[in-house]
Amino acid sequence: MRSKLPNVGTTIFTTMSKMALDHGAINLSQGFPNFPVDPKLISILEKKTLENVHQYAPMPGNPELLENIGQLIYKTYNRNNNPSSEILICAGATEAIFASIQAFVSSGEEVIMFDPSYDCYEPPIILSGAKPIRIPMTDTLKPDWNILKDRISPKTRMIIINNPHNPSGRILEEEDFSILEDVLKERPDIILLSDEVYEFITFEKKHISINSRKNLVNQSVIVSSFGKTFHITGWKIGYLIAPDSLLKEIKKVHQFLVFSVNSLAQAVIAEYLKHIDVADLGPFYMKKRDHFRKLMQESKFELLPSEGTYFQLAKYNEISNASDVVFCESLVKEFGVAAIPLSVFNKDSKDLKLIRFCFAKDNTTLELAAEKLCKI
Ligand SMILES: Cc1ncc(COP(=O)(O)O)c(C=O)c1O
Repeated sequence: MRSKLPNVGTTIFTTMSKMALDHGAINLSQGFPNFPVDPKLISILEKKTLENVHQYAPMPGNPELLENIGQLIYKTYNRNNNPSSEILICAGATEAIFASIQAFVSSGEEVIMFDPSYDCYEPPIILSGAKPIRIPMTDTLKPDWNILKDRISPKTRMIIINNPHNPSGRILEEEDFSILEDVLKERPDIILLSDEVYEFITFEKKHISINSRKNLVNQSVIVSSFGKTFHITGWKIGYLIAPDSLLKEIKKVHQFLVFSVNSLAQAVIAEYLKHIDVADLGPFYMKKRDHFRKLMQESKFELLPSEGTYFQLAKYNEISNASDVVFCESLVKEFGVAAIPLSVFNKDSKDLKLIRFCFAKDNTTLELAAEKLCKI
C-alpha cells in the first residue's frame, strides 16, 4: 500500500500519555487540564440538553454563537467583524487548520512554518501535494524573520505562525509584527495562517492578535480553540476568523469535512460566553506557572521563560547528556513524571536537549510532580 503520509505514526502525545499510564507516572506531557471544568458550564450543559438543540447545526455555526464570538472579538481586540460571513465554527482548531490549508494550498506550492512547530500543520500540507518549508527559530525560540525573508519564493502560498507559541511559551511582540507586515505588504497573494489557540493565556505581556493588525487581517486566517479557553479539550470545538472572500473558500472544504459542528456544544458555549470573562484566564494560568516554577527552583532543571500558553520548557543538561527522547523515557520510567521531548516538534527531530512540561494541572499534581523532579 502506498501511504500518502508515510512519515506519520502515533503522535508523541499519545505515546507519552500511555507510558505515563503504564508506569503510574504523573502526566505533565499532553496539553490538557486535569481539574474540573467550571460548574457553571456544566449547569448550562444540563439545561441545554433538554432543549431542541440535537439536530444538525447550520454549516457555518449556531448563529447565536457566531454573534457572541463576534462580540468577544470586538470587546477584546476592538475589531469590527461580520459574524455571519467572517467567522466559522470548527471541530477544534485542528479542523480549522486542516480546512484552511486544503482550501488554499495546491500541489507544487510551499508553506512556510517555524520549528519547533505543532504537529497538525505538516500533514495537510503534504496531503495537498505542497511542500512544507520548516525553518528553525532563533536560539531564544522566536521566529527568525531573516530566514523567512530568504525562504519566501514565488511558490510560497501560506505562512503559518503560532502565537502564543506551543511548545516554547514565547509570544510575538510589536517588532515581530512590523517585520511581518513589511514582508507581506510585498506579497498580498500569501495567506497568513495565525494559530492563536492560546490567545487568552498570556502573562506579563498582552497577546497581540492578528485581529488587531489592520495591515494583516485582510490576508489572514485566525484560528482559536474553546478547548484551550474553557478547559474542555475533549469537546473539540473552536473557530476561525477570515475575510469574507477567504472564508467562502474555507467553507467549501469544511462543508465536506464535517458539514457542521456538534450542535449541543455550540448551544452551550453560546450561552456560556455571556457569563464569563476570558480576561480571567491569563491570571489563572499565571498563578499555576508561578507555583510550578517556584516548586522547581530546587531542581537541577533550568526553566526557560514562559510568557503564554500552559507550557514550561526546561533544559536538563545538568542532569544528563542523553537525547531528549531517551531522557523523557527515563523520566517517566525511573522518576515517575511524563514530559514531551522538544525534538518531536522539529524537522528531522533536531534535538535541542529541551523538554516540555504542561502546568495546566491541579496544584496537588504540580506539587507531586515537582517533588519527584527535584529528587533527580
Ligand atoms: C498550537 C496548537 N494548535 C492547535 C491545537 C489543536 O487544538 P484543538 O484541540 O482545538 O483542535 C493545539 C492543541 O494542543 C495546539 O497546541
